[in-house]
Amino acid sequence: MAQKEDIVFPKGFLWGTATAAHQIEGGTTNNNWWLFEKEGTIKNNDSALVACDHWNRFKQDFDLLKKLNCNAYRMSIEWSRVFPQPGTLDKKALDHYVTMINELLKRKITPFVTLFHFTLPIWWCNEGGLLNRDKKHLEHFKQFCDVVAKTLKGKVKFYNTINEPSIVMLGYITGTSAPGQKNMLKAIKALGTTMLMHAIAYHSIKSVDPDAKVGIVHNVQITKPYNPDSIMDKLFTAFADYCFNGAIIRSLKKGKLPLQIFSSHRELINTNDFIGVNFYNFIRLSLRLKDLAVPATDNPICGKKGLCVSLGWEPYPEGFYLAIKRMHNAFPHIPMYITENGIGTNDDSWRQRVLIDHLKMLHKAITEGVDIRGYFYWSLIDNFEWEHGYEPRFGLVHVDFKTQKRTIKPSGMVYAHIAKSNALPAAILKKFPEEIYKPQF
Ligand code: BGC
Repeated sequence: MAQKEDIVFPKGFLWGTATAAHQIEGGTTNNNWWLFEKEGTIKNNDSALVACDHWNRFKQDFDLLKKLNCNAYRMSIEWSRVFPQPGTLDKKALDHYVTMINELLKRKITPFVTLFHFTLPIWWCNEGGLLNRDKKHLEHFKQFCDVVAKTLKGKVKFYNTINEPSIVMLGYITGTSAPGQKNMLKAIKALGTTMLMHAIAYHSIKSVDPDAKVGIVHNVQITKPYNPDSIMDKLFTAFADYCFNGAIIRSLKKGKLPLQIFSSHRELINTNDFIGVNFYNFIRLSLRLKDLAVPATDNPICGKKGLCVSLGWEPYPEGFYLAIKRMHNAFPHIPMYITENGIGTNDDSWRQRVLIDHLKMLHKAITEGVDIRGYFYWSLIDNFEWEHGYEPRFGLVHVDFKTQKRTIKPSGMVYAHIAKSNALPAAILKKFPEEIYKPQF
């Protein structure tokens, strides 16, 4: 029975979790990340060779979704599996994805399918990858999108085109993710290419399946100057905000790629039936810092409490609200889904606290009129966290990587309760009575 104090979400709200193929499937050795991993670039020399063995255990994992009372699930389809060589379709791999989707539908779980979640086929990278904008080269991506949309028509209604163009760009800035380069001009070019790929995916899917709902996924990055009194830090922060957020919003609204002034790509305009918003943390920036950004472990509150272990990310629930509002102001008439939000921590009670604080902020945005239709927690299971390997644990479900045993964490139970009630139930709110966590600036 609903209680007066419950914080209730709109009817039909989707409660899901999100994953990505390379981070959980295992055996994705036809892509650029696998090459990057083989260079010994990953913490503890980890690799995604086995990951969560989800390719073989997906039914068990989808049963977990049911146990978490989820009615939606965001997954990605690995381009390099479906097209291991240019123009050569691997029908068996494609059929495997169809089986996965069927298993979700059997469980009454609405699938959201991502077409590009950080990994690219090796053969496509050998042709220049994101730095090559030749029509013929980009046509390969269109072929992949066409095949997926034709195959899944009638089964999948929601598609995410590109996951986080701004984070893809980091592979050309920090050198810590694939392809491991440090070149700002290349980064900006790669960012622009991902935007073009978004337009390609949008038009491809809509021409195959006009009823499908298609949207990009943008990671809203909140940036803060390391020293609020320093003009240099403020300028650098403003520049970073343009690269991480402004350039992407401008591309989608005006069809202009980053730094493009006179010409434009009109095919980019009106290419979102919904906006996917990812939100994790904020970063403090300064040109004087070795890594340009200061890790949260150095921050007075979070660092001291040792809460932001592994990744050093400090949560910022209010920032989540600001991120939602920013995207809403940019696209006021387009519905929104929170396609990722979560925290990498071994302290599961901290995960629960952070989850609840973020959901309160999400609800606040809804009450102020933002049309948010679903929330996908990152992630269903602990998984391969890119350059950080298996150390950061984001799952609602614990994975023992030696035995592949899955165990639902207490945060998973809390999420199941929330999803079932379609509310933050009073009983849960009572358990976490503190104010929303606020970082110190
Ligand atoms: C990415 C995920 C990643 C998560 C946590 C997001 O930026 O889409 O692939 O695991 O953040 O780092």
